[in-house]
Amino acid sequence: MKKMDKIIIEEAKDYIGDLFKNDSGGHDADHSLRVYNNALKIFNEEGNGDLEIISLAALLHDSDDHKLFETKDNANARRFLNDHDIDEEKIERICETINSVSFSQNRGRRPVTIEAMIVQDADRLDAIGAIGIARTFAFGGEHKRPLSSSVQHFYDKLLLLKDEMNTQTGKKLAQDRHMFMEEFLRRYFNEAELNENNG
Ligand code: ADP
Ligand code: NI
Repeated sequence: MKKMDKIIIEEAKDYIGDLFKNDSGGHDADHSLRVYNNALKIFNEEGNGDLEIISLAALLHDSDDHKLFETKDNANARRFLNDHDIDEEKIERICETINSVSFSQNRGRRPVTIEAMIVQDADRLDAIGAIGIARTFAFGGEHKRPLSSSVQHFYDKLLLLKDEMNTQTGKKLAQDRHMFMEEFLRRYFNEAELNENNG
């Protein structure tokens, strides 16, 4: 990456740090940074796609999430991109990438570009494994739900994600995280059962 691009990435990190500073749940700036790191890892293995689009789309992928912001037409992402002299065509491709990553906005539709495939895999990796477990119970706590409700979310969504990965690298990375969730659930039910018998 060119030197100039590195500065843009650093500024994007600062931008999302400000944007998410009031959120303590699963959607904070750290989530976006992890998605960015996952995306770089996948890009390096796959050797495919436009690195600038992947990087900026990963960092900005939740910047206009309707659960957190009331913006329209990727306004938060566009504000950053317009302020950084990125050309119009590239801005459109970054916004398209961001929009095809979201699970809820694209029911059933799979991403078609390699950039969107990579960023979606990167986002899904952060929903599974140890981090995924932590985020799920944080979400449940934030919504004042019992542990059993978060455990149900594994069966409704998280355990299905490994078979929905787009890239070979995504599939490979998801496998290990998936196995850890299965082990976690096995122990969870095992401990819950022991407590029931003793209590
Ligand atoms: P993203 O927009 O980053 O793809 P979501 O908005 O779907 O992620 O979810 C954010 C986090 O909250 C995820 O880690 C997910 O597991 C968790 N989460 C979402 N829905 C539920 C739920 N019903 N119960 C427990 N956790 C949930
Ligand atoms: Ni996300």
